[in-house]
Amino acid sequence: MFKLGLMGCGVVANYGHIPSIMNSSKFELAAIYEPDVARKEELQKKHQVEVFSDVELFFQSGIDAVVITSPAPAHYQNVRDAARYGKHVLCEKPLAMDDEEAAEMIALMEKAGLMLFTAFDYRFSPVAQMIKTIVENKSIGDVRSLRLSYIWNNHGKYVNDDQIPPQLNLRRANRMIEGGPMVDCGVHQIDLARWWLNSDVQLQHSEGAWVDEYEAPDHMYLHMKHANKVHTMLEISYSYCFTAKEPVSHFIYELIGTDGVIRYDREAKLFEMRNASGTTRFPYASEKNFNGMYEAFALSLETGQTGDMPTGLDGLIATRIARRATNELIQKRALMQASK
Ligand SMILES: NC(=O)c1ccc[n+]([C@@H]2O[C@H](COP(=O)([O-])OP(=O)(O)OC[C@H]3O[C@@H](n4cnc5c(N)ncnc54)[C@H](O)[C@@H]3O)[C@@H](O)[C@H]2O)c1
Repeated sequence: MFKLGLMGCGVVANYGHIPSIMNSSKFELAAIYEPDVARKEELQKKHQVEVFSDVELFFQSGIDAVVITSPAPAHYQNVRDAARYGKHVLCEKPLAMDDEEAAEMIALMEKAGLMLFTAFDYRFSPVAQMIKTIVENKSIGDVRSLRLSYIWNNHGKYVNDDQIPPQLNLRRANRMIEGGPMVDCGVHQIDLARWWLNSDVQLQHSEGAWVDEYEAPDHMYLHMKHANKVHTMLEISYSYCFTAKEPVSHFIYELIGTDGVIRYDREAKLFEMRNASGTTRFPYASEKNFNGMYEAFALSLETGQTGDMPTGLDGLIATRIARRATNELIQKRALMQASK
């Protein structure tokens, strides 16, 4: 059994990581590092584990590996500390704030002989795993194009719009400040496209819109040309219905091949393949799978092999593509405004 330490105990730790750690026979949640001291007692009581606000004491508490679920700007320092204490890492996405940080994190971990993984949990959904198998065994022929779309409101612009002034939803606001929807959410789909196709991205082009008022565009389109000539179109939004009383969202994977298509529609709970042999309906599953990710993480810790685990490099590449797509649009917009 591996003793895990968790760094940053907020939303994703509480709904995704901790339940999976508790659920696993391979892991024990042994310690939490949470700098927000006001929540120490509440977290200790809830998770029945020692909560540290001193990072040195956390690392000296006898843990084998760490999971980093802090906000993106903290990942760099969290990984540096883990490397200093010789701990393997599973780090939430986006891996880092820029390429330099990510490259340094990877180099530090490699130098220390440690594994660094990025928490792209979408890879472990039975849906994503089935798509990988279908692509590999060519049941829809040769894949030529991917249409991936996740347009939603990231829980809305306001938490309470009945108040005057309305209360801003900081969860969404902070993610917009850290880079916007492509960097925060789109990295999952960029990773899936690379992983399903087993092919890197050679060319990219983005377009987007500013529905809200942040530096980053909040509704974006990214086109990627992979080395194997397959095209991926990714649409991502944090402003779709962001002020609507009754918001709706769309989450879609479509893979178009020379002999058929794969269709996954989360909202319609639909997962099917249509090809010359007919229509095959697969069991619906959520797009996320933290349990599956922790099974794969345990296997990697046991064997020292990567397996299906997304590496630090996978994290760096997805974040690089997402930031480039976002930054190009920010720069283009600034040039257009300057030339007015
Ligand atoms: N894989 C997924 O499906 C998924 C889903 C949601 C969020 N995320 C990612 O997880 C990360 C956390 O997101 P969240 O929504 O849980 O954020 P959050 O703000 O709810 O929680 C982050 C926690 O980290 C703590 N923290 C702040 N600074 C820290 C530091 N220097 N070291 C350690 N902890 C620190 C905060 O006090 C807070 O408790 C982000 O990178 C986000 O993009 C991933």
